[in-house]
Amino acid sequence: MQRSPYHSFSVRSAFEGRRPTAADLVESVLAEHRAGHLPDGARLPPVRAIEKQLGISKNTVQSAYDELVARGVCVTRERDGVFIATSAATISRTPLAQASAPALRPLPPLKSADKSASIQLSSVFIDPALLPREKLSECARSVLRTPGLESFYDVQGYAPLRAQIAERLTARAMPTDASQVIITTGSQQALDIVVRALAVRSVAVEDPVYSHARLLFENLGATLTSLRLDPFAGIDLDQWTSALVEHKPSLLYAITRFQNPTGYSYQTHELEALVRLSATTGMGVLEDDWGSDMLSEGDYRPTLRSLGGDNVLYANSFTKKLLPSLRVGYLVAPNPLIPTLVAMKRLATLGNPWFTEAILSEFLDRGYYDTHLRAVQAALDARYAHCVDTLREHMPEGCRWTLPGGGPTLWLEVPRAVDLASLSARMHAHDVHIQSTEEHFAREGSEAPHLHGFRVSYAFCDEEKLTRAITALGRELRA
Ligand SMILES: Cc1ncc(COP(=O)(O)O)c(C=O)c1O
Repeated sequence: MQRSPYHSFSVRSAFEGRRPTAADLVESVLAEHRAGHLPDGARLPPVRAIEKQLGISKNTVQSAYDELVARGVCVTRERDGVFIATSAATISRTPLAQASAPALRPLPPLKSADKSASIQLSSVFIDPALLPREKLSECARSVLRTPGLESFYDVQGYAPLRAQIAERLTARAMPTDASQVIITTGSQQALDIVVRALAVRSVAVEDPVYSHARLLFENLGATLTSLRLDPFAGIDLDQWTSALVEHKPSLLYAITRFQNPTGYSYQTHELEALVRLSATTGMGVLEDDWGSDMLSEGDYRPTLRSLGGDNVLYANSFTKKLLPSLRVGYLVAPNPLIPTLVAMKRLATLGNPWFTEAILSEFLDRGYYDTHLRAVQAALDARYAHCVDTLREHMPEGCRWTLPGGGPTLWLEVPRAVDLASLSARMHAHDVHIQSTEEHFAREGSEAPHLHGFRVSYAFCDEEKLTRAITALGRELRA
């Protein structure tokens, strides 16, 4: 049985330079009880605790407790201790869940992929077999040996890493200074900081969208405007413009390349239209570039940030292409916003672990990241081509899929007649997990989502797994 914590109380004579007597202890308990500092049902400190604290004998404490029990002020419960007497002898506490709660919405249980299947066909992660374990551990060992870094951290993020990120972005036509980069715990923290620090009350999001962005914004109390995204038709700019003009969100959250979950990449004219809209309405834009660096030539499209616009904030992360457990992401913001964003990060964390940031910095510095990316891109190029070829060969009529040319996943659309839940159950019998995607969609009444399918991952599954999974999928869809 778990013991309740005891109530500590002060024994006044202890501060007067003499050893407290049993009578002092009794008086102190009575006084504290009268003052309400020792409420009914409170557990008194164990005899040994007082003995040690005050430097008095066990017998002195025990005789004080005996007297309190004799007077009916306290009761003894076997193996549990001495308590202030009360009829109920329990302290009623308001369970946290019943305390008047802020406007938090209940979160759905975290749906991690069903790990019992050996093929995770909808995973957004990278195949562990492609991870550069040895080189990372070399960097970790070297960082641990660096003198003087033990107690160091920088709220904005490890300065050398910020400089390296800025340099890489600049090389990708996004001129950036290290002072504009904030290191975050994955890009998830970047989304959180932006909405809280800038007190964003309304956000426009694609529909469907990365589910934990939607949940985060909702739970931070923001009102959402859903912008319907059909990856097969492109963005309906008229529809988006009228929704944005009507609802006037202060922020547009856009996953502009290899969008999660559809794999859609915005066309240049769509990006330009959004930059213009942001300039005329004053709407801020948070661009999430989660899938950059995955597949060679995958970075050929411009970003909102590269097209300009002082209203664009940019988030990215090393989670998907290097090491999920590293949890290093970053946010790039216009200069005037940096102090507010950094202040919010300081309040939340004081600073993230410099250790992982320093390992990553070393990894970049030694040129390992570029070597790693070349290897990853070659592997993903081959897997992507194989995935598309295998879909062409095995998908029955009525199925179609996006061709992202980058990022970790594509979207496979299946005929409406296919029940996704039962397809998922049948695929499970083939040892394949496909992830239901309903939480990506805005729920308006009983209207069915405008897409009917799921993600297919070429980043997580190798060719052999893709063949097995897609062949089985083809058979089940035909059935
Ligand atoms: C589009 C998108 N953005 C951001 C994230 C957050 O990832 P992380 O915090 O690991 O960078 C994810 C995670 O899957 C994602 O899919």
